[in-house]
Amino acid sequence: MPSSGCNSKPENQPGPPFWLLAELTYRCPLQCPYCSNPLDFAQQGEELTTAQWIEVFRQARALGAAQLGFSGGEPLVRQDLEELIRAARELGYYTNLITSGIGLTEARVEAFKDAGLDHIQVSFQAADEAVNNLLAGSRKAFAQKLAMARAVKAAGYPMVLNFVTHRHNIDQIERIIELCLELEADFVELATCQFYGWAELNRAGLLPTRAQLERAERITHQYRAKLAAEKHPCKLIFVTPDYYEERPKACMNGWGNLFLDITPDGTALPCHSARQLPVRFPNVKEHDLHYIWYESFGFNRFRGYDWMPEPCRSCDEKEKDFGGCRCQAFLLTGDARNADPVCAKSAHHGQILAAREEADHAAGTLEQLTYRNERTSKIICRA
Ligand code: FES
Repeated sequence: MPSSGCNSKPENQPGPPFWLLAELTYRCPLQCPYCSNPLDFAQQGEELTTAQWIEVFRQARALGAAQLGFSGGEPLVRQDLEELIRAARELGYYTNLITSGIGLTEARVEAFKDAGLDHIQVSFQAADEAVNNLLAGSRKAFAQKLAMARAVKAAGYPMVLNFVTHRHNIDQIERIIELCLELEADFVELATCQFYGWAELNRAGLLPTRAQLERAERITHQYRAKLAAEKHPCKLIFVTPDYYEERPKACMNGWGNLFLDITPDGTALPCHSARQLPVRFPNVKEHDLHYIWYESFGFNRFRGYDWMPEPCRSCDEKEKDFGGCRCQAFLLTGDARNADPVCAKSAHHGQILAAREEADHAAGTLEQLTYRNERTSKIICRA
């Protein structure tokens, strides 16, 4: 893998990446229909080797990256995860494992601790065993997750529990919060589904109604107030979906600004969903990260403000939200340069309004969603 070994930053170049996300593999024992992985994940190239990953970590650290997330797919599938964690720790990263907990054992939790892992985030599909197992595609998923959340806590990690919420589980918000408190989570992320990858494919079957969302947010606020009054250490974070906003989020804190994602085959992306854009992105097998971050076409494509058409170009909020999300703009308008349609100033905002309206009348069941697995990926990509 090429390496410049160079850490210089010429004038008027962007700052260094801060957060490196290593998507170690697209393999996953679960089949969540809201996965943000690309639809064609089953047709991607070979995964980077252990040595190639460590070289990526070294180069990103030399550029200035300080946080490293191990994600996927399911990163536990990689048998070299302990070795990768150890190498990352030796390079001085703060490390975070983002996992479903499936494939985790108490012995592995300990091994990660020995290797220097700082933080573990465990994701759940629901607080209800049947729904959780259906979404995960495994009859054992829920029991395994409970056991592993307890093991993570017992090993002394700060623990984040992540619940992706959608129209089929958001009405269980009290049970979800109660379960998190029982598991002694330090942070609970109640993240309403965002619509990329498989979630975008299943959007009509996943988007909650405004009434569902408002109820869930109200209950979360009530729990927050109660926990604060009790001086309880657990923090609840509620993430509203873009589809119920009037202004877009500053996606990735700006394109090529802080975030660097490396996919299993070594493709470097400014965000984990960017692979679907009609932009050629560089690969770490062909270029060093200094070139990729500062000079490659893909990382400069939407940096700054010069690429913006109207209404973003003259908008007085552009320095706050960078025109929103490029991936969402592309998915909904076919042109990634457009304003994110979440913005009420976008000429395409009607699509967001129509999706909200559709959510009010949707009647589909959980079983009717398209689940993420190799078979469905191949069928979709052939179609
Ligand atoms: Fe790719 Fe927002 S998810 S820019």
